[in-house]
Amino acid sequence: MTAPRTRALRYGGDYNPEQWPEEVWAEDVELMRRAGVNTATVGVFSWARIEPRPGERDFGWLDRVLDLLHAGGIEVFLATPTASPPPWLGHRFPETLPVDFDGHRLAYGSRNQFCPSSPVYREHALALVTDLARRYADHPALKLWHVGNELGQVCHCDTTAAHFRRWLRARHGTLDELNEAWHTVFWSQRYGSWDEVIPPRRAPYLINPGQRLDFARFCSDTLVESFLAERDVLRRITPDVPVTTNFMGLHPVVDGWALAAHEDVVSHDWYPDPADPESHVLSALSFDLMRSLKRGPWLLMEQAAGAVNWRRRNPPKPAGQLRAQSVQAVARGADAVCFFQWRASRGGAEKFHSGMVPHAGPDSRVFREVEALGADLAALAPVAGAPVVADVAVVLDWENWWAVELDAHPSGDFALLDRVRDCYRPLFELGATVDFVPATASPADLAAYRLVVVPNLYLVRDPEPLRSFVAGGGTVVVGFFSGVVDERDQVFPGGYPGPLRELLGLRVEEVVPLGPDDVLACSSAELGGFTADFWRDDLLVEGAEVVAALDDGTPVVLRHRHGAGAAWYVATRPEEGAAVRLFARVLAEAGVEPAPDRPRGVEVVRRGDVLFLVNHGVDEVSVDVPGAHVDLLTGAGVSGSTTLGRFGVAALVPQAG
Ligand code: GLA
Repeated sequence: MTAPRTRALRYGGDYNPEQWPEEVWAEDVELMRRAGVNTATVGVFSWARIEPRPGERDFGWLDRVLDLLHAGGIEVFLATPTASPPPWLGHRFPETLPVDFDGHRLAYGSRNQFCPSSPVYREHALALVTDLARRYADHPALKLWHVGNELGQVCHCDTTAAHFRRWLRARHGTLDELNEAWHTVFWSQRYGSWDEVIPPRRAPYLINPGQRLDFARFCSDTLVESFLAERDVLRRITPDVPVTTNFMGLHPVVDGWALAAHEDVVSHDWYPDPADPESHVLSALSFDLMRSLKRGPWLLMEQAAGAVNWRRRNPPKPAGQLRAQSVQAVARGADAVCFFQWRASRGGAEKFHSGMVPHAGPDSRVFREVEALGADLAALAPVAGAPVVADVAVVLDWENWWAVELDAHPSGDFALLDRVRDCYRPLFELGATVDFVPATASPADLAAYRLVVVPNLYLVRDPEPLRSFVAGGGTVVVGFFSGVVDERDQVFPGGYPGPLRELLGLRVEEVVPLGPDDVLACSSAELGGFTADFWRDDLLVEGAEVVAALDDGTPVVLRHRHGAGAAWYVATRPEEGAAVRLFARVLAEAGVEPAPDRPRGVEVVRRGDVLFLVNHGVDEVSVDVPGAHVDLLTGAGVSGSTTLGRFGVAALVPQAG
């Protein structure tokens, strides 16, 4: 099964007509057509409407909605409504409600209130999914199944405990192996019977890290398993309809690589912070990750037309930003630009969350921007399905994410995404296009790249792929606090970076997390003087060449030839300008073509034969574009250079002839 084939980019959003009287539905479809909307995601939170009482079914309204959309030429992503069970489920079967870390059972009255290990929840959910799939299997509007919503539930109840024990038996085999893996010899934690083993729960002091790490793996596997349970029902009944579930942005709970492997297409919910002038960098990072998860086009399933309602202060997006953010997603591989939600709610917890049709109605700035965006996306149709090609891979691995953020570490400030961003930011600034890869990428996977950046790899399972990549002529950059533990979270004796020592030609004796006011002065003949902060290592050189060092001679940037390639190690956090110089140097060494110079805040990405330019800055800028092009968005010719105003975008194809 492959992703839904699109002749065009998809445009639309979550459509929740059950919140509105039926008179409004016809106007919805008419406005969708006006805005160029071609897709609606229906039914995400409709469990209580479809099954008002246990076992009853009310599909009549949904029949009418799907028929109406179809008659209007709007295709449907149909959701299984399993993310938000109705009150009757929790009321009759309290064991389906999740229990938190402190042992409190959570109530219904919100959403997401289910234990993913509960057989009772799963039985009710699958019965509903089965009936939904049977009912709409042949509906001509149905193009994609959208399973649940933003998988991320975690539960600590007794049913979960039993499930966790089954999972642990499968992973470790015997209790002796589990005791060994969790190093339960420490603090008298040895388990004498499987019944004693529980999920991490509130305890007097630090909880066993092996237990926590295995629980993180288990929670991820359990959510993948609950996705698969629904997907298998859908596959059986509608083998030709592809299946997705929407990722919750950059979220640690589910291993994105594991879940994406079972999806037909990846979809993503993304809400950049309007108060962060650098939010476009994190957006680019998340979009590159989504494209990488299945190495192909992905769907922007949700974004906001204006304000969200869940930050402390929620201003609307300034005029033009929605367009820039949407084109940015398309440039980085999105084949769909969709929203939460079509029409802003008039009641309920999210009534102040923007919609494509705002409270003010269609005679509004937001709706005019929504209409204009529809026209833009129609003009960008030629890019649908086209690939984005990258020379650089960045390693992002969920097991490592869970492990490196366990507590009682040298620094409680160490956040994996910050480290990834520290590497991604300069690469973005340099115009390098980046894919992400898991730490388990094979040598064949890595061979597609010239440079592999490992912002952090605290937990190392197998150093071989990186070693052979470098031996074969590749370049790697590895960040500090890497090569510390094995997959059981047990330290490699002899000094970090453990199994990466030989590759990197150095040995770390001690790690030194720095305080907020600590600034290091570094000197380097190649990179010039610079400051650094956050971290430093006390390390010994074992063959590497020192590229930069502190004034007392302690090396902070090292380079080690290995086979036909080179392995760099960065033992601190260089200031941004130095990070840009460092990555420029590394990219040049790796043979990656430099991107043309352009003003800060201007993003340049090639997708297929379209060169996208997006100005995220506030000032008007002029960007050099050698050759003659046509802008798909305006039809105008562009020769030599183009001017982009605030949030200005261009999608340039070479001029024919
Ligand atoms: C998530 C959910 C939506 C909605 C939005 C609000 O992405 O999937 O249902 O709650 O957040 O931003």
